[in-house]
Amino acid sequence: MRIGVLTSGGDCPGLNAVIRSVVHRAVVDHGDEVIGFHDGWKGLLECDYRKLDLDAVGGILARGGTILGSSRVQPAHLRDGVERAKGHVTDLGLDAIIPIGGEGTLKAANLLSEAGLPIVGVPKTIDNDIASTDVTFGFDTAVGVATEALDRLKTTAESHQRVLIVEVMGRHTGWIALHSGMAAGAHAIVVPERPFDIAELTEVVGRRFSDGKKFAIVVVAEGAKPREGSMEFNQGKTDIYGHERFAGVATQLSGELEQRLGKEARPVILGHVQRGGTPTAYDRVLATRFGWHAVEAAHRGEFGMMTALRGTDITMVPLAAAVETLKTVPAERYAEAQVVL
Ligand code: F6P
Repeated sequence: MRIGVLTSGGDCPGLNAVIRSVVHRAVVDHGDEVIGFHDGWKGLLECDYRKLDLDAVGGILARGGTILGSSRVQPAHLRDGVERAKGHVTDLGLDAIIPIGGEGTLKAANLLSEAGLPIVGVPKTIDNDIASTDVTFGFDTAVGVATEALDRLKTTAESHQRVLIVEVMGRHTGWIALHSGMAAGAHAIVVPERPFDIAELTEVVGRRFSDGKKFAIVVVAEGAKPREGSMEFNQGKTDIYGHERFAGVATQLSGELEQRLGKEARPVILGHVQRGGTPTAYDRVLATRFGWHAVEAAHRGEFGMMTALRGTDITMVPLAAAVETLKTVPAERYAEAQVVL
């Protein structure tokens, strides 16, 4: 079998573990040939790739990022993108393509699958918002980074008696905010699923000070927005690929809370540090299992499917169903955290 693998969209700790696992299972156990496309779909569209053998994946299990590079380019961005991809798959004699990516990548994978290409998707995102899988690798690492940052921020917030508003990633969902906020004992958590009321947030933080506490930590997901009419808010813009570029909710909240509370407030934007560096053991294991099962699915001819974690098992789910909706934080989870606005 000849398999093409690519990593597309925002990078994520664990991508290299999937690539390594695909190569180990395919080359060593099945005697397959594996090629890796550079920079995501761009590599497939431009026929830019390299052969991946055991040497190529040596020592990458614990390495962050992706040895193949990534981009947000998608076949749909080109008028002849789908046809071009199909042509290259035929020319290269590929029997299977394993794209590893998040929401946008999997939608592109589904499009190509519907156009007849032999696709087995592997979900990845630190945001943990892919439906049909309980967890995506990268999430555990990102939550760990954010939690460590929050623990550290508490001590400086306390020394200066400040309110720190810490912005974590999460475009559409508040999984990182919820988990890191719970793990670090944040005093308020603001998620995109639930537009916040600035008066309510002011009251929650203010109550802490009137109870005699000297500081407060608010965790906010980057995609969180105020309730209609709650406060003036700059909505941000879109980037060249039509992705939402946020205008800094933490910065806007910090200014507003400082004014309303008369307390020093500072925004802290964790940004891409959450995506960088070595994956946790949990993410390495999940990524390795996904890679192994993707190769097996390809050998069974199970295309148009995606690897997924259900409980402790890896199963295959239809790509079409997986990209239909995002996995948002269910309302029951807010109550458990007690501090979600
Ligand atoms: O999709 C993962 C993610 O980390 C989002 O949480 C974040 O909004 C986005 O990627 C940032 O992407 P970029 O690297 O293109 O700025």
